Amino acid sequence: MHIETLTSLKAYNTFGIDCKAQFFTSVETLKDLKEVLSKEIHPNLFVLGGGSNLLLTKDVNALVLHINMKGITLLSKENDHVLLEVNAGENWHDFVLYCIENDYGGIENLSLIPGNVGTAPIQNIGAYGVELKDVFVRCHAIRISTQEEVSFDHYECQFGYRNSIFKNEAKDEYIITSVVFKLSTKNHIIKSSYGAIQEQLKKSSVSTPTISDISKAVIAIRQSKLPDPAKIGNSGSFFKNPVISTEAFQEFRMKFPRAPFYEVSATEFKIPAGWLIEQAGFKGKRFGEAGVHKNQALVIVNHGKATGTEIWELALKIQKKVKEDFGIYIEPEVNVI
Ligand code: EPU
Repeated sequence: MHIETLTSLKAYNTFGIDCKAQFFTSVETLKDLKEVLSKEIHPNLFVLGGGSNLLLTKDVNALVLHINMKGITLLSKENDHVLLEVNAGENWHDFVLYCIENDYGGIENLSLIPGNVGTAPIQNIGAYGVELKDVFVRCHAIRISTQEEVSFDHYECQFGYRNSIFKNEAKDEYIITSVVFKLSTKNHIIKSSYGAIQEQLKKSSVSTPTISDISKAVIAIRQSKLPDPAKIGNSGSFFKNPVISTEAFQEFRMKFPRAPFYEVSATEFKIPAGWLIEQAGFKGKRFGEAGVHKNQALVIVNHGKATGTEIWELALKIQKKVKEDFGIYIEPEVNVI
């Protein structure tokens, strides 16, 4: 195991922010992971997956542990489904493509989401009518303090909208090392009801879509709306879509009758933060090296040389204006360090 010092993290976060790690190491096996955790290299530990949900505003005074364990294992094959165990360091989209190639259904709507498999359960990644929780069976993890191997089943993960136990009670206590998925091998349930998917399928004249068609449609939609982090630094949606009470929603709707919304439950409504940010006048605007994406206002971008602080200042400016204009607080989705 090789421990580096003062390592640039630019290549390890999709915002492309050039902050440094006091110490840095990349682990490729469970054995290496346990070994590094058992040593007192630095009192602080910072666990890094794909770096796709992270805004660095300062150097990281810690041992930065890059989880780079690869591998996909077929655990079992039943009549209509498989169970796959996927190591945490696998790239999420590569895993989606692997499933499409093997005709395993369930995650095609989650095509092109940046990040790694091991961090996907933390925020229960979701897009176009599917969430990770829909195919999740369990995950394996290491308790950081004792290096003990533990596992969490679906119930124990307490999944919610962009949320799980790993963002709450279990925050910073575990490192997810692999995830077990249940995926269909026949009679795939095609989820194409989302408006943008319907439109895309129509454009490509597909009437009875396969999982591969859905994946292609999602890729086309995402590529048209969301910037490619390899070309322009970003972290996908910067904010969560706010959920407000029926009472607050009724008042909001009186003032803004044209606003899009989704009914979450009998007592809650979700308003798209992208709409609020666009109406607040930020869409496509540039503030120095930081900016708001021209096709999706929920995405903050690094035009090249932005510091994490510049990005964060823009986020705060947006948050303040949305609060002033609509009385709604929008909470960041990304982890700000
Ligand atoms: N909208 C605007 N202006 C914008 C962006 C959106 O008016 O600039 C409106 C749209 O017209 C639409 C609504 O907001 O009525 C929703 O927009 P969209 O379908 O693009 O989805 P979203 O709610 O903005 C969420 C996820 C995305 C995911 C899409 C598709 C969150 C925080 N974001 O975005 O996830 O891809 O749905 O399912 O829930 C991510 O997490 O990084 C991410 C990209």
